[in-house]
Amino acid sequence: MRREHPTTVLRPPEQDTAGTATAVAHPNIALIKYWGKRDERLVLPWTGSLSMTLDVFPTTTRVRLDAEAGHDEAILNGVPATGEARRRITAFLELVRELAGRPERAVVDTGNTVPTGAGLASSASGFAALAVAAAAAYGLDLDEAALSRLARRGSGSASRSVFGGFAVWHAGPDTGTAADADLGSYAEPVPTADLDPALVIAVVNAGPKAVSSREAMRRTVDTSPLYRPWAASSKDDLADMRAALRRGDLEAVGEIAERNALGMHATMLAARPAVRYLSPATVTVLDRVLQLRRDGVGAYATMDAGPNVKVLCSRADAERVAEAVRGAVPDGTVLVAGPGRGARLLNEGGR
Ligand code: DP6
Repeated sequence: MRREHPTTVLRPPEQDTAGTATAVAHPNIALIKYWGKRDERLVLPWTGSLSMTLDVFPTTTRVRLDAEAGHDEAILNGVPATGEARRRITAFLELVRELAGRPERAVVDTGNTVPTGAGLASSASGFAALAVAAAAAYGLDLDEAALSRLARRGSGSASRSVFGGFAVWHAGPDTGTAADADLGSYAEPVPTADLDPALVIAVVNAGPKAVSSREAMRRTVDTSPLYRPWAASSKDDLADMRAALRRGDLEAVGEIAERNALGMHATMLAARPAVRYLSPATVTVLDRVLQLRRDGVGAYATMDAGPNVKVLCSRADAERVAEAVRGAVPDGTVLVAGPGRGARLLNEGGR
C-alpha cells in the first residue's frame, strides 16, 4: 500500500494550557453529495448528504487565545493566511466568540496534509479541527451534534468530519424559523452492517481549482435547469444509500454513490456558464473503473469539486483497484484510504 503524502508542518503541540487547545480531524468523501445551499449565512443545504471519513490527510489545528491581541491571526502550513482563507477563519472565530460570550482574539495554527483547494476536502478537515479546537479554547462545552452544527458554519462538509466512519448530514427543516433550521441541520453517525470499505484516491491534479466549490454550487443552484431534478433524486439516493449501508451491500452503496456524483457533475455542466471539474485524466480513470467492473471487481467512482477520482471498493480488492488506477494515470498519485476517526482534541503528548 502506498501512502505518500507530506507530513504536517505544524509544530508538535506544547502543553495545552487554559485558552489553548489542539485538535485533529480527517477529510471525508461524500457518497451522497452536498451541492447547493438554501441559506448561505447559516450554511444550510438543500439536501442531506452522507460520507465516509478517511484515515489519511489529517489536519491538526491549535487555537491559542491572546487577550492582548487586537485581531485574529491565522497560520496555514507555516504561512500567514490571507484573503478568503483568512476571512473565513476570522468569521468562524467571531461565531465562536459570540457563542462563548468572550472577546479574546486568537492565534490559529493549522497544518494540513491534504492539497488545499483540490477537491480533496481540505475545508472539511480544516473546519472540523478548528471547531473542536476553538470550542475547547474558548471553554464551550458542546456535544457532538452542537460541534457538527458549529463546524457546518465554517464549511458544510466539515459537519460530517466531526464523526468517524460513515456520517449523514441532515438538511434540517426548510420551513419554520431560521433557528429551527439551524438546530435541525447537523451530522451524526450512520448505522452500517459489516462493510470493509476502502477508497482508492487518484490524485490526478493536486493544484487548486479554478472555481471554488462555494462559487460553483451557488452558480449551479442559481442557473442550472438540472439542479432541482438532481436535488429531488438525491433525496431518494440518500434513503437508498442508508438502506444499502444497513444491509452491508457494498455493490449497491457503490452504484448509488456513482450515480449521485455523476448527477451532481451534470448539474454543474448545465450551469451558465458551465463548471467543469472533470479532466481527460478523470475520464481515463472512469473508463478504468468500468473495465474493473466488467472484469468482475466491485469498483465505483465518485468525484468532488476537482478532477481527482475516489474509487470505492472492498478492502480486499483495494490493491488490485489501486494498481489498475495507477496504470491509467502514471503521472498521478494513487493511495488507499480506509474509514478514519472523527475530530478530536489532542492531549498534551500529541496523541
Ligand atoms: C463537492 O463543504 O467545501 O465536496 O459549505 O461552501 O464550504 P462550503 O462547501 P464544501 O463543499 C463540498 C462539496 C463537495 C460534496 C460534499 O462534500 O458533499
